[in-house]
Amino acid sequence: MAELDRLYRSVVLGVAGNETVKRLVQGRGEALARRFVAGENLDAALRTLDDLEREGIHATLDLLGEMVQTPEAADAFTRELFPVLDALRGRDAYLSVKLSQLGQGLKAETAGEDLGVVNARRLLNAAGGVFVRFDMEDSARVDATLSAYRTLRAEGFERLGLVLQSGLYRAEDDLNALLPLEPDVRVVKGAYLEGRLIAWPDRAGVELAFRRLVYRNVMAGNPTAIGTHDERIINDLKLFAERSGAPRERFSFEFLYGIRRDLQRRLAGEGFTVRAYVPFGTQWYAYYSRRIAERPANLAFVLRGLIRG
Ligand code: FDA
Repeated sequence: MAELDRLYRSVVLGVAGNETVKRLVQGRGEALARRFVAGENLDAALRTLDDLEREGIHATLDLLGEMVQTPEAADAFTRELFPVLDALRGRDAYLSVKLSQLGQGLKAETAGEDLGVVNARRLLNAAGGVFVRFDMEDSARVDATLSAYRTLRAEGFERLGLVLQSGLYRAEDDLNALLPLEPDVRVVKGAYLEGRLIAWPDRAGVELAFRRLVYRNVMAGNPTAIGTHDERIINDLKLFAERSGAPRERFSFEFLYGIRRDLQRRLAGEGFTVRAYVPFGTQWYAYYSRRIAERPANLAFVLRGLIRG
């Protein structure tokens, strides 16, 4: 990532962590967040799914929440996901979840297993055919997330996918090691600020690795979600898919809800599978701050909203 991008991102994330700013933005409530967040409850999220479906766009739902610190909080978050899974059954939609919200890093009472794995297993047992994908968090969690994925796949949970971040040097090795499992992978650039020792310092490195990850997984015959709003990458990958003869069912384009809606509609109109990642829930502030930190134009949008108040 270019130095200026990094600087902008860390300044905005720093300011967003300020309690006064937080109170100011949260005080304006959902109205500000609505651009990127479907709403504060499941009903609002389902209404958004219906609206998207009318445009030929499918979805993945993400219940927003902070990283949990106690087994009780992990259990409470897991329980909140059961009705979400119930609501997704029969729809062309799936659940995205972060293992840190399920208790990753905490020990389960029985057998000393990681609590994130235990709670993910509860979800998968309740999923009844609904596909679930583990989002990928910061680099410190990658090993544990890959290990959770392997454990659960070895137990026979087939309707499970994961995410690889092209920003990390390790992503290509991780994919190669996963290939025997025929993984369903969402490729993204990576949303976390990572150090130069482990992550590409420049856009070119991140983008090349992104394309390579997609080529490799698609050519291996595995389902691949292309998680980016970067039109140049999307155009290249469309071309690649056509020339390689890969069937369209094998890949999809995934966007964050509210970003590049024009492109989402256009791709859906061209007959590609398009999916929006739809976050919802009361804890929208951290997610919202990350979206603002990604793009200076978004900051102007928030400031205008606050001034209009
Ligand atoms: P880039 O940031 O270069 O943006 C390309 C263009 O997209 C911009 O020029 C602009 O037009 C538009 N754009 C991008 N961000 C915007 C914004 N916030 N507001 C308005 N326009 C914007 N990361 C992660 O670490 N783990 C994960 O599990 C996931 N999951 C995930 C799912 C899906 C469906 C998507 C699309 C993304 C993720 N990400 C993620 C986030 C990802 O890693 C990355 O941070 C963002 O997608 C931004 O990078 P782009 O590839 O879009 O390119």
